[in-house]
Amino acid sequence: MSDRKARLSIDGSDEVIELNVRSGTIGPDVIDVTPLTSKGYFTLDPGFTSTASCESKITYIDGGRGVLLHRGYPIEQLAEKSDYLEVSYLLLNGELPNAKQKADFDATVYRHTMVNEWVKEFYNGFRYDAHPMAMLCGVVGALSSFYHDSLDIHDPEHRQITTMRLISKMPTLAAMAYKHSIGQPVMYPRNDLDYASNFLYMMWGNPCEEYEVNPVIARAMDKIFILHADHEQNASTSTVRLAGSTGANPFACIAAGVGALWGPSHGGANEAVIHMLEEIGDVSNVYSAVRRAKDPKDSFRLMGFGHRVYKNFDPRAKVMKETCDEVLNALGVSDPMLDIAKKLEEIALQDDYFIEKKLYPNVDFYSGIILRAIGIPLNMFTVIFALGRTAGWLAHWHEMLGDHSRIGRPRQLYTGSDVRDFVDLNKR
Ligand code: ACO
Repeated sequence: MSDRKARLSIDGSDEVIELNVRSGTIGPDVIDVTPLTSKGYFTLDPGFTSTASCESKITYIDGGRGVLLHRGYPIEQLAEKSDYLEVSYLLLNGELPNAKQKADFDATVYRHTMVNEWVKEFYNGFRYDAHPMAMLCGVVGALSSFYHDSLDIHDPEHRQITTMRLISKMPTLAAMAYKHSIGQPVMYPRNDLDYASNFLYMMWGNPCEEYEVNPVIARAMDKIFILHADHEQNASTSTVRLAGSTGANPFACIAAGVGALWGPSHGGANEAVIHMLEEIGDVSNVYSAVRRAKDPKDSFRLMGFGHRVYKNFDPRAKVMKETCDEVLNALGVSDPMLDIAKKLEEIALQDDYFIEKKLYPNVDFYSGIILRAIGIPLNMFTVIFALGRTAGWLAHWHEMLGDHSRIGRPRQLYTGSDVRDFVDLNKR
């Protein structure tokens, strides 16, 4: 720790409060404000724009330069050279696996893809038109009722078993949600297929005929999982950490993460992008959509543009755009929606409003387009994001428990009524 100090003097008080300034491996220095509470102060930071909630060794983002590193490795290299399970291993263990470690990890994931038959009953309880995210939230949490044997979060072996179970079973649960929504029988996983291919097989296969997974689509899906695997202390990951800090079991924590991811400002944005493109309807309407997005009196925003952290470009979006082009060319897909998306991107990237506010297309903009192009139904987009993010959520959950963190408990600046006496009903 450096011995640099920040000094805080407060009007009306002679005391100068000394705060340690801490440096990370890379990135901005951080003022450690923990002593403030003993001096009778809190900090106020709605939306946590200036607050580091924890120390972490998992992922680094430089939003100004468009850099994303997992355990030090650039996302571009991981997307090109690795696969999702290898990235999951890296996030969870801190290092890339050697050949044996990789084979063992993959084999363990492939061996535990099935879910208990009774899990099907949960799906049967959902209405036919339930959103798959609603089903995923419920069923992931419900898994905790099946595994009483391994819920002791203080036992490293239990933590490991649960981690592998979640990574193995998420594709099965996600595909089951889809099958329920279209009224088809659930497809049991095939453990001879790789992670992404098995997911696609469970989504699109049916018991009546052979189904062969298209390797171009499988590789694109695996890249989508990699690009969503982790993103440091975003809203859903912070939710998982906060839930985990209470000692809740990992299934409950991941279910909380799924819930937080669902919102349109976060993982729900990929679905919102397609709704927006449908609303725009035609290339000729793109200019008026951009005008609306710039109008401060209009709440309309260009979904898939802007990011809390990236103020240059989102490096995941760059890889996603390349993958998108590859897949569209390989499959020969033509879709008027894609023409609207391309026009929107072109106009927004040249528009002063978007340039000044540093609003670039984010990962959700292209993932929405690519998922549509490969035939994934709209309501499954955020489910796929959740599936990929599970590895990151678990890595942060492990790290948080390893830190022996105290329960996460933010404070507030109270601006409500001062103390007052209760008024009887007949006098109000
Ligand atoms: N379209 C139009 N204007 C926008 C957009 C947008 N997509 N995003 C931000 N702005 C404007 C805001 O109106 C605001 O303008 P002002 O300063 O004149 O008030 C300014 O840019 C800053 O916006 P904030 O909402 O304060 O930025 P914040 O960092 O809080 O929000 C967010 C980031 C939520 C991603 C935002 O850009 C947004 O709503 N984008 C659309 C939704 C989206 O794509 N979400 C996916 C995020 S990526 C992910 O979760 C993987």
